[in-house]
Amino acid sequence: MKVLNFPEGFLWGAATAAHQVEGENTNNDWWDWEQTPGHIKNGDTSAVACDWWKGERYREDFDLAQSLNHNAHRLSVEWSRLEPREGAWNAAAVAFYRRVLGALRERAMTPLVTLHHFTNPRWLVQRGAWETPAVVPLFERFAARVVQELGDLCDFWITLNEPNVYAFTGYIEGNWPPGKKNLGLGLRVLANMVRAHAAAYHAIHRVQPNARVGVAHHVHPFYPAKPRSRVNHLIAGWQDDVFNRLFPLALRDGHLHLPLGLGARVPEAVGTQDFLGLNHYFSSRVAVAWSSPSQLFGRKLPPKPTGLSNDKELRAWFGLGDIDPNSFYDSVMWFSRYGAGLPIYITENGIPDAHDEIRPRYLTDHLAALHRAIQAGAPVRGYFHWTLTDNFEWIEGLNFLRFGLIANDFATQRRTPRPSAHLYARIARENRIVTD
Ligand code: FCB
Repeated sequence: MKVLNFPEGFLWGAATAAHQVEGENTNNDWWDWEQTPGHIKNGDTSAVACDWWKGERYREDFDLAQSLNHNAHRLSVEWSRLEPREGAWNAAAVAFYRRVLGALRERAMTPLVTLHHFTNPRWLVQRGAWETPAVVPLFERFAARVVQELGDLCDFWITLNEPNVYAFTGYIEGNWPPGKKNLGLGLRVLANMVRAHAAAYHAIHRVQPNARVGVAHHVHPFYPAKPRSRVNHLIAGWQDDVFNRLFPLALRDGHLHLPLGLGARVPEAVGTQDFLGLNHYFSSRVAVAWSSPSQLFGRKLPPKPTGLSNDKELRAWFGLGDIDPNSFYDSVMWFSRYGAGLPIYITENGIPDAHDEIRPRYLTDHLAALHRAIQAGAPVRGYFHWTLTDNFEWIEGLNFLRFGLIANDFATQRRTPRPSAHLYARIARENRIVTD
């Protein structure tokens, strides 16, 4: 038996996102996307989701989280509610988020607030969303205003959630809104996201000098399928560079390193992170595929079996990847070197497991890997599991991928903690894991 203690003051919580839990979020691009048959599995829509907006069920969810010893919670605010028309601010939405953050504080849970988690107000989409640099001052103004309105309740902010996933799914794969397949445009989106993040970072600090501001970076490590093949190494390295490193390196170097003259100088972005947010789910092994230049000449091997009874179905729809705590360790260590001392928070990590078949083991293995990274010097200060309750999982809809520590029956809105919720509660209470 091994006892692994976490640093004092470690944050233990779960992460959520507005559109996935609030429901009736009718004024953004995802709502529009959901209404088209074929876009979402089983014809689901986000509908009332977890009923945080109308029924204000965040209260009972935070009660549960508190009773499960969470001392922090990550959530996002919805731009299209707060600014339903360009420049027009909605007092009812501000009041709602003040109640939400107040509810966390009453329960002694530290809020971490994301300003952009995939969804865009409809008016912003009409203006080209992230495709044009016009978004930069619009996002900057939005960020500053949110911090003016909510800054007495929160000083811990994430500007953007997973810019690489946003650009990839919406502009390269094209199965998320706006459903385009245009690599060049995707890279321009990424560049505008760097600029908008930088502008928001500075604006937030002007309003709230003591703010802590970061980005939730999605990391999906790529490994050579044949560890001894140099060409496999090369290909895996390209994939890592483009998918995982482009955005973080731009924030360090002030330069978006892109091929074909698409690179951009972004000096204003240098040093615009007070901490590093890290989302990690899967890794992949890649082999050479000279016939697929669009995949950077790489081909992902089929993921290793997950041990989930619906493994086959999950693969067919969701793609999955290898579940590998070592790749979590590697990601944390890469960010630790990259951040040179910046605190690291795991802002998402989790598994779609409706019956908790592998989640308990997953949790222990991943937290043991995280502990190993801390022992090796990574300044990790908190962990937010994805997610608190089952919620609207984007194109996978409501019922297919169940990432919650707590099960949710969407028909009745009944919540039932899974065994791993109790395991996590114990870890959080004792601030340690016990492994065999
Ligand atoms: C991440 C997203 C989050 C959720 C999880 C499963 O990429 O940030 O909203 O969908 O995946």
